[in-house]
Amino acid sequence: MKSAVVTAFDAPLEIQERPVPQPGPGQVLVRMEACGLCHTDIHAAHGDWPVKPSPPFVPGHEGVGVVTALGEGVTDRELGHRVAIPWLGHACGHCDHCVSGWETLCEQQQNSGYSVDGAFAEYAVADAGFVVPVPDTVSSFDAAPLTCAGVTTYKAIKVADIRPAEKVAIFGVGGLGHLAVQYARIVGGIVVAVDVDDTKLELARSLGADHTVNAATTDPVAAIEALGGIDVAVVTAVFPAVFEQAFASLRRGGRLVCVGLPPETDGPMALPIFPTVLKGISVIGSIVGTRQDLTEVFALHAQGRTRVYAESRKLDDVNAAIDDVLSGRATARLVFEF
Ligand SMILES: NC(=O)c1ccc[n+]([C@@H]2O[C@H](COP(=O)([O-])OP(=O)(O)OC[C@H]3O[C@@H](n4cnc5c(N)ncnc54)[C@H](O)[C@@H]3O)[C@@H](O)[C@H]2O)c1
Ligand SMILES: [Zn+2]
Ligand SMILES: [Zn+2]
Repeated sequence: MKSAVVTAFDAPLEIQERPVPQPGPGQVLVRMEACGLCHTDIHAAHGDWPVKPSPPFVPGHEGVGVVTALGEGVTDRELGHRVAIPWLGHACGHCDHCVSGWETLCEQQQNSGYSVDGAFAEYAVADAGFVVPVPDTVSSFDAAPLTCAGVTTYKAIKVADIRPAEKVAIFGVGGLGHLAVQYARIVGGIVVAVDVDDTKLELARSLGADHTVNAATTDPVAAIEALGGIDVAVVTAVFPAVFEQAFASLRRGGRLVCVGLPPETDGPMALPIFPTVLKGISVIGSIVGTRQDLTEVFALHAQGRTRVYAESRKLDDVNAAIDDVLSGRATARLVFEF
């Protein structure tokens, strides 16, 4: 099978022929139809984060395809059904996080395309219990970005606990952000989209953003202050300075939801204590979402409540696709179709 492999951090990915893996006990084999390119795959390939994957490995955690083989003991999946392979590839199922609905915090978790081989390949094996069924009315092309960008921003909006008519700013309207804009609207937020690229801001407007701010040409803190400030900021941009701008834009009682994961070498964000205390600000880290969250994301999409904006690419062009994301040439998501 064709697969895209990280052989060393900062080396281009290699397209390799590999044997089709066989599903072990409790696993399924999935023939890939689509897989999105998440910015996380780029961080993985570059070894950007404190906990690093071990090359060689296959990235990809927005994999969607058809179950073509069942490992021993698998009874809850059927051959021919479509499933999604998300970042949460496995969790233990019995720790306090798992049993309280927070499987995304499980310390025993495996992550697709990071600690185990992922979906940048024609086939992948995955834990049968952690793949998520894709409704018939959701195309594989749309399901792919929903599998990480969708579920992650859906969860970020949930944990922000937004009341209708609160002002919500989305900093970074890329793969994640273009879906965050839509979930913020669904819960009744008045949405401010912030990016450095006018094409992305136009897209945000077409997806329901009420205000847009180009942070390359305008100070976003001043622009948001002129709008009366925001109650919630969801940051998907990849620079610590943007988290600081988001913090500075919050009204009293505001919530800063941190989603983007800048490289470790870019250093921390400064969090001034005095305004945090006086303004009663909450700072919330939000990591992907559960299987149930992803099921809800698919249900909303099946009802026509969200739109996925993505461009099709070939896996052979994986390195060009990465360049397009890093240079800002890619609008919203790039999706490899097999
Ligand atoms: N917390 C999680 O569970 C989780 C899940 C998936 C991805 N991520 C992380 O989220 C981040 C974003 O991922 P993505 O796939 O959406 O990336 P992306 O590259 O598609 O989007 C980033 C966006 O930020 C914009 N941007 C750049 N500079 C900016 C600035 N100064 N102000 C405002 N916007 C700016 C870019 O133009 C782009 O639209 C990555 O760090 C990724 O690893 C986190
Ligand atoms: Zn657990
Ligand atoms: Zn992702």
